[in-house]
Amino acid sequence: MSVEWSSSGPELLVTLDRDRPLRAQLEAQLRTAIRTGRLAADERLPSTRTLARDLELSRGLVQECYEQLKAEGYLTSRGGSATRVARLSGERQSPRSPAPARAATAPPLVADFESGVPDLGLAPRADWAWAVREACRTAPDLAFHYGDPRGVADTRAVLAAYLGRVRAVDCDPEQVIFCSGFGQGLSLTLRALVRRGLTRVACEDPGSIGTVTAAATSAGGETVAVPVDDDGIDVEALAASGARVAVVTPAHQWPTGVVLSPERRHQLLAWARDCDGVIVEDDYDAEFRYDRDPVGSMQGLDPDRVVVLGTGSKSLAPALRLGWAVVPARLADDVAAEKRVADRGSSGIDQAALAILIESGRYDRHLRRMRAEYAGRRAALVTALETHAPHVRLTGLAAGFHAVAHLPGHADERQVLDRARSRGVGLRGMSTYRSTRALTPPQLVLGFGNTTTRAVEAGIRTVADLLG
Ligand SMILES: Cc1ncc(COP(=O)(O)O)c(C=O)c1O
Repeated sequence: MSVEWSSSGPELLVTLDRDRPLRAQLEAQLRTAIRTGRLAADERLPSTRTLARDLELSRGLVQECYEQLKAEGYLTSRGGSATRVARLSGERQSPRSPAPARAATAPPLVADFESGVPDLGLAPRADWAWAVREACRTAPDLAFHYGDPRGVADTRAVLAAYLGRVRAVDCDPEQVIFCSGFGQGLSLTLRALVRRGLTRVACEDPGSIGTVTAAATSAGGETVAVPVDDDGIDVEALAASGARVAVVTPAHQWPTGVVLSPERRHQLLAWARDCDGVIVEDDYDAEFRYDRDPVGSMQGLDPDRVVVLGTGSKSLAPALRLGWAVVPARLADDVAAEKRVADRGSSGIDQAALAILIESGRYDRHLRRMRAEYAGRRAALVTALETHAPHVRLTGLAAGFHAVAHLPGHADERQVLDRARSRGVGLRGMSTYRSTRALTPPQLVLGFGNTTTRAVEAGIRTVADLLG
């Protein structure tokens, strides 16, 4: 990454013994730093004025030192520009870290149906930068201090109101805990629940089995996989599993895309009440819904039994690592305590930026824009399959930005993936998300978040060709 330094230049770690010749020490330390790679080629040095001031030396001494090192080939400067570390030949300069091994070159992808990723090219850079700037400009000094590990009170109130408005979440701001994405929200919640003796955690199958298992295991618990059918998680199988915690994706099951049916919702809530259990609701992509009535969060139906975990990874960008947990009041202190241990709280400035985006209407505007984008790609996917592979059924399209393609029964999922890859099309198979890794029935999880309608069309034509 190329970074322009501010005019004062970078800091430099040099320690001098005032009882010994100073120039020789400074030269020797710079030579060593360059040879060992602590100062890398092209790195900018502080100006002679700045370094002289920082080290309490005369500027003339530092100038002489720089001149000497230039003469020796360690430093360069062109036409009055900043002094930089020269590129040394051969063994004189060891790289700071070993050069990364070159990845084997696979052909570039014409189309990549990677799922779970929003359009990174349309991440709301300008809005986010504006909101962070506004947050920095308007925040009181105290906002830059450590704070409540749950997050900033005002910001939690804005989020609680927003979730009430769009997801029918019923909560007090005290129940909101900001965290770095769904992943951390899940870990913190499971830690708190395992401490209370709820050690067996059910996850959907197919589903995010790896993620849930990793979080449960590191919390000292264990997971049990419970099948999902066309109505969502099988609640009878869940009840038989002995788990008292269930991690579910009711609004748009990951990855099958089915919506938890109203009957199952009620069964699931009854299960939680009967076994004194907890439902952990992963509400990961509910902002993006298309041709059905919005499905509210389950949390609103029983705020004392449901933890709802939300994320900015789909609505904004995964790199922001912004998420939230809305926790039953009786668990909120426990989860907040886990958050304190984990990292003392998420960035207050980022939370404030999110609140500013929400309150200014820019968050809704971005979501509207993205919904239209994804709807276009989704339509392209449907049309391309109808045109080129009408025998391939598509399901799970009600929300989000992925769908499931049901391949003909004789198709070999792994072979389709490999052959598509060799023709520049990136595909993911359903087997990856099954507890058994079973390759049948052969299905593709087709993500259309981080792609284009043109790539969707081209990719589906290739898949159709492979299927014959
Ligand atoms: C099912 C599911 N839930 C949630 C997330 C978001 O996780 P995070 O908020 O930690 O980025 C993902 C990420 O791909 C996911 O697949």
